[in-house]
Amino acid sequence: MLKPLFTHEQIARRVAEMGQQITRDFEGESVVLIGVLKGACMFLSDLARQIKLDATFDFIAVSSYGAAKQSAGEVQLIKDVITPLQGMNVILVEDILDTGLTLSFLKRIFTARQPRTLKIAALLDKTSRRVAQVQADYVGFQIPDEFVVGYGLDYAERFRNLPEICILAEEIPK
Ligand code: IMP
Ligand code: MG
Repeated sequence: MLKPLFTHEQIARRVAEMGQQITRDFEGESVVLIGVLKGACMFLSDLARQIKLDATFDFIAVSSYGAAKQSAGEVQLIKDVITPLQGMNVILVEDILDTGLTLSFLKRIFTARQPRTLKIAALLDKTSRRVAQVQADYVGFQIPDEFVVGYGLDYAERFRNLPEICILAEEIPK
């Protein structure tokens, strides 16, 4: 069962604010947005259009949960960027920060490439589930410990195309 949490309008308003903040923070500079596939695709495309700066995109993919609702705790980079990041203002764009294992791993990998700055933009943040010490610089919404889908977020690859974000209240049949 799907319970609405944020409407498409609420998301759009918050993403616009995040874009304005990034625009102010990097005034006169350029940024590289790195989206974590596939969950961040909607967020990245909407956020990018609210950033009034010289911006480029790239994408990475990390090993996913598969059909499970919880991380196995091990993260692997399965697709890397093609952009050289040394001296660049890099913003990692992620759908949700949960245990933090994914982003702490990515932060470590990308710091080693010596960007000028490395920031994290996460649309959602489940602070109560944090295991790894990592914080996002730009957060859309703090959410409770519920499994959410829509606006890029999936459960076993489904529901990414919902315009809104919903709580997936119980297991659904395949
Ligand atoms: P972390 O490594 O535990 O922070 O997990 C981050 C990743 O887990 C996200 O990029 C999502 O792919 C996935 N994830 C965590 N919570 C949810 C959720 O509520 N719905 C859908 N995916 C989630
Ligand atoms: Mg993801």
